[in-house]
Amino acid sequence: MSDRKVMLELVDMTKKYGNGDGVEHIGLKVYEGEIVTLLGPSGCGKSTILRTVGGFLDVTSGDILINGRSIVDLPPEKRPTAMVFQSYNLWPHMTIYENLAYGLKLRKRPAAEIREEITKSLEMVSMPGCEKKYPGQLSGGQQQRIAIARSLLLKPELLLLDEPFSALDAKIRQQMREELKKIQQDLGITVVFVTHDQEEAMALSHRIVVMNKGKIDQIGTPAEIYDNPATLHVASFIGEMNFIKKGNETIAVRPEDISVTPGTAGDMVGEVRTIMLLGHYVVLTVQYGENVIKCNINRALSDSLKVGDKVSLEIGKHTVFNKTA
Ligand SMILES: Nc1ncnc2c1ncn2[C@@H]1O[C@H](COP(=O)(O)OP(=O)(O)OP(=O)(O)O)[C@@H](O)[C@H]1O
Ligand SMILES: [Mg+2]
Repeated sequence: MSDRKVMLELVDMTKKYGNGDGVEHIGLKVYEGEIVTLLGPSGCGKSTILRTVGGFLDVTSGDILINGRSIVDLPPEKRPTAMVFQSYNLWPHMTIYENLAYGLKLRKRPAAEIREEITKSLEMVSMPGCEKKYPGQLSGGQQQRIAIARSLLLKPELLLLDEPFSALDAKIRQQMREELKKIQQDLGITVVFVTHDQEEAMALSHRIVVMNKGKIDQIGTPAEIYDNPATLHVASFIGEMNFIKKGNETIAVRPEDISVTPGTAGDMVGEVRTIMLLGHYVVLTVQYGENVIKCNINRALSDSLKVGDKVSLEIGKHTVFNKTA
């Protein structure tokens, strides 16, 4: 990535609200053509960062650069960004066509060009021919696609998406994810995406920024963050993780990284607590001293086990955290 052009850079950016909440010392580079996701629990500051980039909030200190130039003094409409908010904010009294045309008319584009661009953008989000409808006649997912089409029409260099799919049900969410990824690839635009859904972040992003209480905990590719979580917070927030306490240390190990053998031959012997069939694999929970440890095992092994059996556990790939971490 390092040979690519930096599109967006946040330099020691702090934004504090009057009550002291906000984000601090945010340092982040986003490269051209990348999808970077801000991920973290509610209230950790994801929207705050996105709004400072979009120009809807002033920064308290630090700087925000786009293509190497500071943009903090520019109003939203002068920035090469477009933002899609969680609530789709289409105008209910305007048709889809009027909603889409609004920004282009403000920019004084010729009518014929506007019409052509709108047709193209509706095709891009798989909503051709809905120009005459009103937002109220569309489903939530369809409205969200229109909101994305509207932001793309402005041809932003940087698209800012704040939990755009959170109101949608799981299946449509997944479709929208794939569509967004395709649009991003086709147009080659840079995207900063916000979600508190770790699965969505893993599926969509080139890199993920994991946030915690107004600060960045870790920046990395989905694989880096999954395989080498930098903090206990990251380890517990991304994917399934067992935390096994041993003295001052906590061993973090994923259910797929524990091997289970029937019997008492190993160092870590526990007792089968529950057996849950989840389709192609089985989740076993094992009581090991104070700990309840989750392990993913295959069908063949689970068929040979019942609740109360003694099993021996062997820990594979893991991360060790000291109490102070
Ligand atoms: N306008 C505001 N005035 C004062 N405090 C605010 C304001 N907006 C947000 N905050 C606070 O700043 C912190 C970060 O809020 P932010 O909206 O950025 O979180 P978030 O990560 O987007 O959360 P969510 O996932 O719930 O949308 C929170 O503690 C929140 O209460
Ligand atoms: Mg938010």
